Amino acid sequence: MNPAHVFRRSLAQRLFVLLALPAAGAVVSGCFFSSSCPETDDEPIAAERCFTWPPEDTGAGGSGGGSVDPLVCPSRQDAAVRLNDQFFAAHTVKSDGTLKNGQCCYATEFIPYCEGRPYLVDERARTAPALHGRGDGGWGAKASGGPDVSAIAPDLRAALAAEWTRDALFEHASVASFGRFALELLAAGAPAELVEEAHRAALDEVRHARLCFALASAYAGEPVRPGAFPFEGATEVVADLASIAARTAKEGCIGETIAAVIAAEQCAKAEDPAVAEVLAGIAADEAQHAELAWRTVAWAIRVGGERVRAAVEEVFAGLGHGAVLDAGGAGDPRLARHGRLAGAALSEAAARAMEEVVRPAAGMLLSARGEGVAAAASLSA
Ligand SMILES: [Fe+2]
Ligand SMILES: [Fe+2]
Repeated sequence: MNPAHVFRRSLAQRLFVLLALPAAGAVVSGCFFSSSCPETDDEPIAAERCFTWPPEDTGAGGSGGGSVDPLVCPSRQDAAVRLNDQFFAAHTVKSDGTLKNGQCCYATEFIPYCEGRPYLVDERARTAPALHGRGDGGWGAKASGGPDVSAIAPDLRAALAAEWTRDALFEHASVASFGRFALELLAAGAPAELVEEAHRAALDEVRHARLCFALASAYAGEPVRPGAFPFEGATEVVADLASIAARTAKEGCIGETIAAVIAAEQCAKAEDPAVAEVLAGIAADEAQHAELAWRTVAWAIRVGGERVRAAVEEVFAGLGHGAVLDAGGAGDPRLARHGRLAGAALSEAAARAMEEVVRPAAGMLLSARGEGVAAAASLSA
């Protein structure tokens, strides 16, 4: 059994045990590796996006519910919500919808949710800018040895530098995301254990960011560091438990679970030991972050009842079978042996994560029997 398969089974088992329901699977040993981002620049990807219209199960999984007009596409705002769920990316809808063969289609720009926990503002993932050649500001952690770049073609080195810079910026943004998450847990009156773990996770993300910036710098041949994070003077702290649970389901239960599973796929590909070492530490942490998210949602459902449960259910119901992460291109096949998945390989890994881990765990979380939720949420009141 290959390491990636073992990793998926193990993570699924951990989540099933966490949710206190029957599980089968092997105990994993060996590789734990990190998530990856699609091959892109820091710019959003422009593409036409479509979804089935009218929805097959009108009233379920949509935004707003109620009856729909089969001849009128949803507003740009509603379409963004649907597209974000369907393609697991942060979309900006740039045009009104057009009906085409039973689908509503829009011109969009999107950023895939790729690194564990994005910092979302109005459904868009936000990151700091990258600064090049101005010192590392302490962000370039001393990775042991660093990757061997001597035999890598210049264009591939540049591509790897861009990949790791992108990851580093998302890891850096995850620090902000966990910071906000911790504040929201406080606002919702969460148990101390969850608040403590959220802060610990933020420190993990600082470490991930430093390691990724170190790799980016090694491939770039110059220091790469983050600039100022664009909070723009406002950080919204939501206190509504249903909203917190829904966002945690999206960013954590789905996002960090997929991130951890993709890492295992990269495990099987990475050949440079220095890269593998970095990825190993990141992936193990991301799996723990996923567990924190599932536990948090379980607690929120137990405390908040049916309204919270319905909000979480809508998040999972919105994930149609099929594409869950669009990698936005074919990808460079040379990246794989350097521990980077791109293109179709990335999409397929995300799909496996959804089918083998996220959906079964979500089913257990939302089980009508409820004992799994109660057990997983057996935290101090
Ligand atoms: Fe991370
Ligand atoms: Fe994470």
